[in-house]
Amino acid sequence: MTEIQIKLNGSVERIDVDPWVSLLDLLRETLKITGPKKGCDQGACGACTVLADGRRINACLALAVAYDGSEITTIEGVSHPIQEAFIHRDGFQCGYCTPGQICSALGMLGEYQAGMPSAVTEAGEVPAGKPSPEEIRERMSGNLCRCGAYNGIIMAIQDVAG
Ligand code: FES
Repeated sequence: MTEIQIKLNGSVERIDVDPWVSLLDLLRETLKITGPKKGCDQGACGACTVLADGRRINACLALAVAYDGSEITTIEGVSHPIQEAFIHRDGFQCGYCTPGQICSALGMLGEYQAGMPSAVTEAGEVPAGKPSPEEIRERMSGNLCRCGAYNGIIMAIQDVAG
């Protein structure tokens, strides 16, 4: 066991953790933070997405010990207009992927605003203004929605972008 310290949704937590435990299991099983969901547990679905120091990560692929000293934000710690936008735009149906979608969207908007190169323009530049639906679709491609609420998700993100 190794003691780590994380700032979780604004509260400092000191936890003893085995070195092989994923951040997702630490959150869900030990800390009872169940917003991040375990879908595939292998980095394919994005249901487990959380923010680590503002960057989106798949918590199922992250070893908890690697995030000692980090600030972790899950959906439980999010208070942002994008949540209203998801409701307004019907950006979910069953809701299982929604915590990851919203955390990923916040990370994505941060990347976009920071000028990270676009994956959809041939030259790799960041398009001016708000991200286009194509840009959002590409940047959110790591988050699957089995209900197919993608159009609502994209509209919700566009509503709060820029
Ligand atoms: Fe982590 Fe699917 S549960 S990507």
